[in-house]
Amino acid sequence: MSDQTRQSAGWQIEQSASEAYEQYLVPAIFASWTDRLIETGEIGEGDRVLDVACGTGIVARRATSRVGTTGSVVGLDINDGMLTVAEEVATEVRPQIEWRQGDATALPFSDEEFDVVCCQQALQFFDDPVAAIGEMHRVLAPDGRVALSVWRPLDYQPAYVVLADAVERYIGDEAGEMMRSPFPAWDGEDLRTLVQDGGFDEVSVTIEIGSVRYPSPSEFVRREVASSPLAESIAALDRSVRDELIHRVTDALHAYSDDEGVASPMESYVVTAGR
Ligand SMILES: C[S@@+](CC[C@H](N)C(=O)[O-])C[C@H]1O[C@@H](n2cnc3c(N)ncnc32)[C@H](O)[C@@H]1O
Repeated sequence: MSDQTRQSAGWQIEQSASEAYEQYLVPAIFASWTDRLIETGEIGEGDRVLDVACGTGIVARRATSRVGTTGSVVGLDINDGMLTVAEEVATEVRPQIEWRQGDATALPFSDEEFDVVCCQQALQFFDDPVAAIGEMHRVLAPDGRVALSVWRPLDYQPAYVVLADAVERYIGDEAGEMMRSPFPAWDGEDLRTLVQDGGFDEVSVTIEIGSVRYPSPSEFVRREVASSPLAESIAALDRSVRDELIHRVTDALHAYSDDEGVASPMESYVVTAGR
């Protein structure tokens, strides 16, 4: 995209999607879920922790404060851009986190290397989620445990129903599909079966309800899109079309608007299982 387009569009994509993810989505959404996941995984002093599909590393970073100097934390992701940001953000974190590039369905670790495996909001993106669970099971020590979270279906995420419909209408079907992809159709029993099929016997599934907040509907659109592969598509839209998209989102989110912007519920399954 030319500088002129950037300026005339008035819609900046000055940073990479991974940087935008860390700057916008981590504080607005993922950070508060991280604390719940770490609680669920009962991460403690001395634990060897693996964060599968770590993204920019929020779970791995917070896990370090629980494992102390005798434990260790490894973050693995398939995306180099995410790992680059993860490493930059965590330079001062101790114990030092080991960052590894790799695929969740073929973990580059030996059997029984970890006490806790975490996986926050990523299982739904794997080509073969059962194989990924099987790998988590394989790398866990005999008394180890897995803690993972997966968003409930789109119907339970009102702000994203609106956003996905709007990008589908103004950018295209693929864009709508992409915005819906974090929210699989799995219900709690589907998820339990999936984790059991991966090798875990005792599986606990809970529904957790949180929220997302943005300073305005237009910032909701801008920040979400900037953190996704759609950044260039929306910047390339004619300004009047983009304004229409934002008006549509603003209208549809009227019931979730207040003096501080927009706030909307988000619901997730949190799953834990012992090896
Ligand atoms: C929504 S992000 C969640 C990141 C992080 N867990 C968090 O809580 O912020 C999903 C992550 O899954 C990663 N991912 C997708 N497929 C993967 C795979 N097959 N193996 C490893 N990571 C994968 C993506 O690169 C992305 O960083």
